[in-house]
Amino acid sequence: MDQIEEVKRKIDIVELISESVELKRAGRNFKGICPFHGEKTPSFMVTPELQIFKCFGCGLGGDCFRYVQEFEKVDFPQALKILADRVGVKLKPLKGFTGYEEREEIYRINYTAGEFYKYVLNTHKAGEKARVYLKQRKVDAEAIKAFGLGYSPDQPSALVDYLTKKRGYSPKVIENAGLVVFRGSQYFDRFRGRVIFPLKDHLGNVLAFAGRVIEDRGEVAKYINGPDTQVYKKGRTLYGLDVARSEIKKAGRAIIVEGELDCISCWQVGIKNVVAIKGSALTEDQASLLFRFCSEVVLALDSDFAGDAAARRGLETMRAQGFSVKVAVLGEYKDPDEMADKDPEGLKKALENAEEVHDFLINSVFKRYDAETTEGKSKISREIAPILALIEDEIIKSHCVKIVAQRLQVPEEAVLSQVAKREVKQAAVQYSQEKSSEVRTGRVITEEHLLSLLLNFSPSTLQEEDTTAVFQSPGAKRIIKELQNQYNGKIENFDPVAFAKKLPDELVDLFASLFLASGEHNDPEFVKKEIESAKRNLAVMQIKEEIEKLTFKIREFESQGKQEEVVSFEEKLTELSRQLTKLRSESL
Ligand code: CTP
Ligand code: MN
Repeated sequence: MDQIEEVKRKIDIVELISESVELKRAGRNFKGICPFHGEKTPSFMVTPELQIFKCFGCGLGGDCFRYVQEFEKVDFPQALKILADRVGVKLKPLKGFTGYEEREEIYRINYTAGEFYKYVLNTHKAGEKARVYLKQRKVDAEAIKAFGLGYSPDQPSALVDYLTKKRGYSPKVIENAGLVVFRGSQYFDRFRGRVIFPLKDHLGNVLAFAGRVIEDRGEVAKYINGPDTQVYKKGRTLYGLDVARSEIKKAGRAIIVEGELDCISCWQVGIKNVVAIKGSALTEDQASLLFRFCSEVVLALDSDFAGDAAARRGLETMRAQGFSVKVAVLGEYKDPDEMADKDPEGLKKALENAEEVHDFLINSVFKRYDAETTEGKSKISREIAPILALIEDEIIKSHCVKIVAQRLQVPEEAVLSQVAKREVKQAAVQYSQEKSSEVRTGRVITEEHLLSLLLNFSPSTLQEEDTTAVFQSPGAKRIIKELQNQYNGKIENFDPVAFAKKLPDELVDLFASLFLASGEHNDPEFVKKEIESAKRNLAVMQIKEEIEKLTFKIREFESQGKQEEVVSFEEKLTELSRQLTKLRSESL
């Protein structure tokens, strides 16, 4: 584990994160816009002292490895490798991470297989058919190179033979990588007689392959894809992201197309910020991967996607993550590949003029039904209501409502009431989902706020009985206990780093986020007021809880006819109410 420590010591987390997030000083910390969720006001904090980051919007936080894992969407060993390379630490093979060595082996064998396929396509005579095919599809040499295309010979086991006999790989590894199929008692190449598209992650690792037949014969699948393996999971990657990532970042937007050849054709005509989702609906994983690079997407998909509920959910996912989503209308063309070939300038224009997703969805519903007939109107309104109800932005929503009402020739109120009905339904669902997380409100939040202030500005008071008595949440209590134990009753120079190091693992995260949460304040007057008001709020909550308990008891006594108890408890109740009134008046 010492090499992990070594890398960590050599990395400065502020410098690392600065490369992807614009950080500004905020007291003893740095602050910026979180790269992991959509936000307009910064709630993403980095502390040089503790060498950690924490976002108070989405909750993500951790050390430099965690950051790279999240930002680059890689696992721990890969993050370690990236950071080790950065600071010039040479890593010994990592032991103890499940599957690490197997995964490395798959990357290696995939790379080798990719080189084999490339060689066959570019150099070998067996590749002639594929060269002819790609020429006919107008894929040029530059694109073949950039996307690493290849060809698998139309033979039972050309790749297996090469990998075992020439490169010494065991059949087991070849199977783990998904490169073979098993028939009878024999291994066959999974891809035979197909143009090969390596499927890479955004760092350029070959995860798997896709293969396209070169003669459309109908009876065999046009495309086949490698199976899920230890390194490849369908729906987690975006085809072409390794080629396009810097262009996407530069442009601030990504063009999303359906297939490999759509992607390559766009790239060839100069639309370089393009990735493909390979025929399925955009997943949340893909969206959050893309969000590292841009916040706007333009979909150039098959025209039937608007009718596809899964695809629409994908769009809502993206908008929820903070993306602006647009849709390009390709007119008479079947797909971007065809349009790139026949009318590249038109394609670029269509991408530039892409419609905001709601306008597009509304248009597509109106295209399907006749807005002049009663039945058409009713179908349109039924399909459009759920689309409108999902819009959070009130301005966009009322704009859309207006347009729909106009086109249906009905009053806006009619559309609004349809939408409202849907909203109630959706809100109910959402409420039941959120309810469980609501437990953390009130008391715990106030306690954590107070503890956060005290840790930063008045740690010594955390050994006083009357300060700590107000804390009830288990996390806060344990941190205070640790503090009292570590400092043995006298906290003079509180060293957060040393303290965090000695904390049990499960408390480190809580401590770090508490410490970060108010570290940016620098006005002692303000801090003092905040502390007082948090203490008062907690006292108020405390009294209210007791009042509630008393009231319950009194009702119980009443029903049991215990008059004496009722009287004595009512006196207590009066006293508590007086305290409550006093506390409340102090806070005014
Ligand atoms: N696809 C797939 N497996 C299939 C069919 C399709 O993975 N059996 C994916 C491919 O990435 C394909 C995309 O879905 O590119 C869209 O499929 P389709 O529209 O049928 O093909 P095109 O993209 O037009 O392919 P081509 O231009 O090569 O005919
Ligand atoms: Mn096509």
